[in-house]
Parts: sequence; structure tokens; C-alpha cells
Amino acid sequence: MNFTRRVALAVGGGSGIGRATCELFAERGGAVMVADVNEASAKATAERIVRKGGRAEACGCDVARWDQVQAAVERTRNVFGRIDVLVNSAGILRVRRLEDTLEAEWNEVLQVNLTGAFLLTKAVMGVMRQQGGGAIVHLASRMALRIKENRGAYAPSKAGLLQLTRMAALEGGPHGIRVNCVCPGFIDTPMVWGSGTKEEVETQFAGWAKVCPLGRTGHPEEVARAILFLASEEASFITGAVLPVDGGRTIL
Ligand SMILES: NC(=O)c1ccc[n+]([C@@H]2O[C@H](COP(=O)([O-])OP(=O)(O)OC[C@H]3O[C@@H](n4cnc5c(N)ncnc54)[C@H](O)[C@@H]3O)[C@@H](O)[C@H]2O)c1
Repeated sequence: MNFTRRVALAVGGGSGIGRATCELFAERGGAVMVADVNEASAKATAERIVRKGGRAEACGCDVARWDQVQAAVERTRNVFGRIDVLVNSAGILRVRRLEDTLEAEWNEVLQVNLTGAFLLTKAVMGVMRQQGGGAIVHLASRMALRIKENRGAYAPSKAGLLQLTRMAALEGGPHGIRVNCVCPGFIDTPMVWGSGTKEEVETQFAGWAKVCPLGRTGHPEEVARAILFLASEEASFITGAVLPVDGGRTIL
């Protein structure tokens, strides 16, 4: 995968899978605008890339806010001149039963995980159409395909993202815009470690390893490689696809 002269806007690039994707994109020759609601973390990712000789800038962006999404898109174009790739790795997890989920919490999760994806897609599609094409990759989840307890708002938000991906693929196809999503399984990132106590997360890791065909949890870099494959020319005839990156967990 070679991204020389390619430009990516990577939202949620301040941590976990998003950060790993930014770093790999830059390693393969691309320029990346790292965006995150946590601007300091976006800057930290960009600095890591620049220290290694890559091209990156950072900006704050809350995907739930149309004005901020538009500003991030404009900033990317102003700094790097174009947008070839959008990686949407912004997401939040709330561990709660559906019945116990407060309306405000439901709205918060849907606003970031689904409305945010919609706003980003809407904002970059016009740019990519003018350029004659582009690639968008969303981060859904195994929870878009399967259910486990305490994912009351999260699982529905990620399931919605699959149809958003397909809708955008349908509209984008005639303009050379490919839109795909990946569905990670259990990946070792700050999101997972923030979902419970250390002991609880370690127990979940061990439980997952027992039922996952590959016998372990995943690393952010392993998801990043799948994202960048879908964003690359190697995937030129792939759009509207949903790719599990879960060590085979979803076949069971
Ligand atoms: N880690 C996993 O096991 C796993 C599994 C399935 C899906 N996912 C999905 O992958 C994506 C990345 O997750 P991760 O594990 O790297 O998590 P992470 O918490 O390490 O990174 C998520 C990033 O999104 C940012 N973010 C949150 N709300 C935002 C907003 N409103 N606007 C902009 N940025 C925002 C955070 O600041 C953070 O930097 C998420 O969409 C997550 O739901 C992760």
C-alpha cells in the first residue's frame, strides 16, 4: 500500500485504532490531518509522525458538530490541498443495559457514533466528488453484527453505521467514491481499558481469547492495516463492504 501524494483526514486519530492508522498512512508516504475532539491527543499523534519524518498536522474536531466537521475538512484542504481518504475512527462506548440507558446517554452515543459519521461523510463527499473520487472508511464494530449484554446504545449505533456505509457507497459509486467499514472485535486500546476496572477488562480479555478462533485479542495496528487496505488502490473494486477484523470471532 503506497499513499504517496495522498491526503487523509483521520478523525478520532488521537488514540487507539485511529492513531495507529494515522501512523501507518504517514509511514506509507501519505500526509494526514489528525483530528480529534481531544485536540491535545491529536497533536500528540501528529508530533509522533513528524518526529519520524512523516507529514501530519492536527486539529480539534467534535464529529457531533457540523460546524467543527466542516472546519476540519476546510483545514485539511487549506493545509494539504485535497482529501483522498477519510478515516472515521471517532467513537464512544457506554456499558449499559438498554433498559437502564438514559435518553441523554442514548442521544450522546448516537450523536457521536452515527450522526458524526453522517456529518463527516456528507462533508467530504462533495470534496471527493469535485476531485473525481476518494475513499471513506468507517469504524463500526462486531457489535453491529452480533449482540452482547450491556451495549444498549452502542450496538444499535454501530448497526446504523453499516447502512450509512452502504447508502454512501450507493451515492458515491458513480463519482468514484468508495465507502467501506471495518468491524473490529476486541482490540487492545484505551477505549477497552476505560470500559471497566483493570480486573474486569483482564477477565474479558481472557474470556475472549478462549472463544476467538485465533485465540487472542487484536492490536490497533492490525485494524489499521485493514482500514488502509480498504482506503488504498488495492481495493479499487470494493465498496459498501463490511469487513470483520476480529480473529474469526464472528463466525461463531
Ligand atoms: N477497541 C475495540 O475493541 C473496538 C472494537 C470495535 C469497534 N471499535 C471502534 O473503533 C473506533 C476506535 O476505537 P478505539 O478502540 O481506538 O478507541 P479510543 O477511545 O482509543 O479512540 C477513539 C478516539 O475517538 C475520539 N472521539 C470520541 N468522541 C469524539 C468526537 N465526538 N469527535 C471526535 N473524536 C472523538 C476520542 O477522543 C479518541 O481519541 C471506535 O469507533 C470504536 O467504537 C473499537
